[in-house]
Amino acid sequence: MAKVLIIVGSRREGNSFHLAKKLKEGLLGRRISCDIITPGNQKIYLCTGCMDCDTNGICDFKDDMESNINKVLDSDYLIFITPTRWNTLSGDLKIFMDRLNPLYSGRKLENKKMIALVVGSKPKSAYSTDGALTSLGSFGEAAKMNLVYKYEFNDCLKFQDILEQEENIKTVIEEIISLIG
Ligand SMILES: Cc1cc2nc3c(=O)[nH]c(=O)nc-3n(C[C@H](O)[C@H](O)[C@H](O)COP(=O)(O)O)c2cc1C
Repeated sequence: MAKVLIIVGSRREGNSFHLAKKLKEGLLGRRISCDIITPGNQKIYLCTGCMDCDTNGICDFKDDMESNINKVLDSDYLIFITPTRWNTLSGDLKIFMDRLNPLYSGRKLENKKMIALVVGSKPKSAYSTDGALTSLGSFGEAAKMNLVYKYEFNDCLKFQDILEQEENIKTVIEEIISLIG
């Protein structure tokens, strides 16, 4: 059975959270195992850039990244959901990504399947969510992951605006399910 980990880049119960919940419901309905983590609501120290993990593959910090890294390693698909912030991804997600560096030297993210979902308040014509998607894609490229699917949700400002885009959410769930098979 395929294992999916959804990483939610917003700590509020807003659009990213609601999208993650809908996705999880859809995947569990097809008997695909799915877990959600919200790094912004966890205890995660900032990477100091000491680079020790480049030699030993281990971070000295003892915090929620220990279990997060085990979940990442155990998953076949990583689904990143980020709100657009200043045309790029959220700080919470960037902090999480930096703390994945212990997996870099051992090439443990290589070929991991990645899905990038972006939410933003501006209309598609503003190209704002494109910037967030590019940031996520660049991270995936640096980690040598395999970006298999991406989608941008626009016009979502208030907490639950995304729930008005029922058809788009349905399309995304169906496309992801068909990818996972
Ligand atoms: C600090 C900050 C910066 C933002 N910058 C952008 C932006 O550049 N483009 C955009 O479309 N929306 C921007 N937004 C709006 C959020 O992307 C939007 O409200 C989104 O739905 C929030 O997702 P969430 O409900 O999951 O937190 C910004 C919001 C915040 C708090």
